[in-house]
Amino acid sequence: MDILRPSGPVSRLNAPSRVVYDRERIAARVREMGAEITEHYEGRDPILVLGLLKGSFIFLADLVREIQLPVHVDFLVASSYGAGQAPSEDVRLLYHPDVEIRGREVVLVEDIVDSGATIARLVPILEGREPKSLEICTLLHKRRAHLAQEPRWIGFEAPADFLVGYGLDYAEDFRHLPFIGAL
Ligand code: IMP
Ligand code: MG
Repeated sequence: MDILRPSGPVSRLNAPSRVVYDRERIAARVREMGAEITEHYEGRDPILVLGLLKGSFIFLADLVREIQLPVHVDFLVASSYGAGQAPSEDVRLLYHPDVEIRGREVVLVEDIVDSGATIARLVPILEGREPKSLEICTLLHKRRAHLAQEPRWIGFEAPADFLVGYGLDYAEDFRHLPFIGAL
């Protein structure tokens, strides 16, 4: 299968070895999450969905189409991992939108919570802009750390493996896989 070929030399370490969540399972769960979010915000102000690039782009695209309410979409760019698999404590916000967050019902969308450093860093920054509410929605959660603010919506409790596909990368490879696999 050609889409599984990394851009560099192939080794056991950088080729997905098994499917963890296939596309049907992901789609079914995303549909449920969209319904849960719809129910939560029913009768409230329009939602502002803030996607954390790049990892959340496919999840976010599928998720917003399952939300049966008015939704605005913008993105944040944070740096956490470098090129490889090692997490860094130094999470920086490289871009944040000009969109007014004050008074909005904000949903921060993450691909995966691992050490929790990204969320721990971003939540205070976003809270500082005084949203009416701020909730976190993540497709995957590795439950490696205790977070000050846990995501309200979690797609799957993820295994400890390094996961790729459906937006998740290893050194920028494999984001386009329609399923989630483990290296
Ligand atoms: P945290 O700050 O340690 O929670 O890591 C969050 C970010 O690290 C995610 O948004 C991902 O971009 C990346 N990450 C963590 N675990 C994985 C993984 O298993 N595969 C791919 N990226 C990951
Ligand atoms: Mg990444």
